[in-house]
Amino acid sequence: MTILVTGGAGFIGANFVLDWLAQSNEPIVNLDKLTYAGNLETLAGLQGDARHTFVPGDIGDNALVASLLAMHQPRAVLNFAAESHVDRSIRSPEDFVQTNVVGTFRLLEAVRAYWNGLQSEAKTSFCLLHVSTEEVYGSLGATDPPFTETHRYEPNSPYSASKAASDHLVRAYHHTYGLPVLTTNCSNNYGPYHFPEKLIPLMIVNAMAGKSLPVYGDGMQVRDWLYVKDHCSAIRRVLEAGQPGEVYNIGGWNEKSNSEIVHTVCTLLDELRPKADGTPYSTQITTVKDRPGHDRRYAIDASKIERELGWKPAETFESGIRKTVQWYLANPDWAAHVQSGAYRDWVQTQYAGTAVA
Ligand code: NAD
Ligand code: DAU
Repeated sequence: MTILVTGGAGFIGANFVLDWLAQSNEPIVNLDKLTYAGNLETLAGLQGDARHTFVPGDIGDNALVASLLAMHQPRAVLNFAAESHVDRSIRSPEDFVQTNVVGTFRLLEAVRAYWNGLQSEAKTSFCLLHVSTEEVYGSLGATDPPFTETHRYEPNSPYSASKAASDHLVRAYHHTYGLPVLTTNCSNNYGPYHFPEKLIPLMIVNAMAGKSLPVYGDGMQVRDWLYVKDHCSAIRRVLEAGQPGEVYNIGGWNEKSNSEIVHTVCTLLDELRPKADGTPYSTQITTVKDRPGHDRRYAIDASKIERELGWKPAETFESGIRKTVQWYLANPDWAAHVQSGAYRDWVQTQYAGTAVA
């Protein structure tokens, strides 16, 4: 038995690979294009481990995916591969259409051909698990109930629109061809190996470097935070017991404003790594120009996965954010290495001239 994971050198995919192999001997074939967000250093601990086969390549490369499927005969394919950063999708939407829409379509085609060729038991038990996001549901008002699986799709950014398109294709391949698929829509993740272009790792890395902590607009946008290892355990549970064709929302019931998140990170750093001059890290917070089309609030209703599959997160926000800050303090080299020349160019472009206060 083997599983094929795509995007397994990125933040969530790599955490998934590491957690999977820490608790199972079932091998993983890991297909990743190694974009700026893919980092083999995260998987360095698996060097020489015969259970992990890394293959550099694109989910949109039909011939490559077909040959991997034929060679390894996986019982499941888990699709983590994506362009994932909203701000980048605003500046360069085409990459998002290419990977998230065209790439997912080509992956589906390769998987459909493979699945059609499977016999009896292997065909019945096979599944494709598509990892998606709550952002496909759009933005909530302050008093709206959290997103359920039946919430209307209302994506607002090129990123979320491209993920919505991929979800629709996955759904259509089940409905039309009978392909056994599972889709998960998760809220904001945080934890180890998170690329420091996203809010929480950016704040930790900038704070430590004595740089400003850029909060978009009024900082009162709300996100619903889930520790990445809880996302991984939810995906394992869906793979194990999810019903083909079903969608499962995943979340931690942890709504926080961005301003609260940034102040929490600062307070933890004040405790764990106080500044030599005694000033609090919160003095580094600055307000910058808002993200265009910025979604105001996300919140996930995760009762279906709890009710039907018995999954609940293990971490509270307080325990997860403390572990996260501690991880970045203990692993400065990982963060330093991912902040390459290309990363520095992105920060320069994204934040140049955006200060409003
Ligand atoms: P990430 O950007 O950290 O990693 C994406 C990985 O995919 C990288 O390793 C990259 O090299 C790889 N990749 C990109 N294009 C590829 C292609 N064409 N072929 C093969 N590999 C490719 O993203 P992440 O935060 O780990 O997100 C993983 C998945 O989870 C995405 O589908 C994302 O939409 C979804 N998701 C993310 C979050 C979050 O908070 N980060 C929340 C919910 C859902
Ligand atoms: O909800 C799930 C989504 O969460 C995933 O699908 C995406 O892949 C993931 O990137 C994330 O999207 P967000 O846009 O919510 O995450 P980000 O970390 O970019 O931003 C979180 C909030 O913080 C958002 O309201 C914007 C704000 N922000 C972000 C950055 C990078 C700032 O205020 N300042 C910043 O510098």
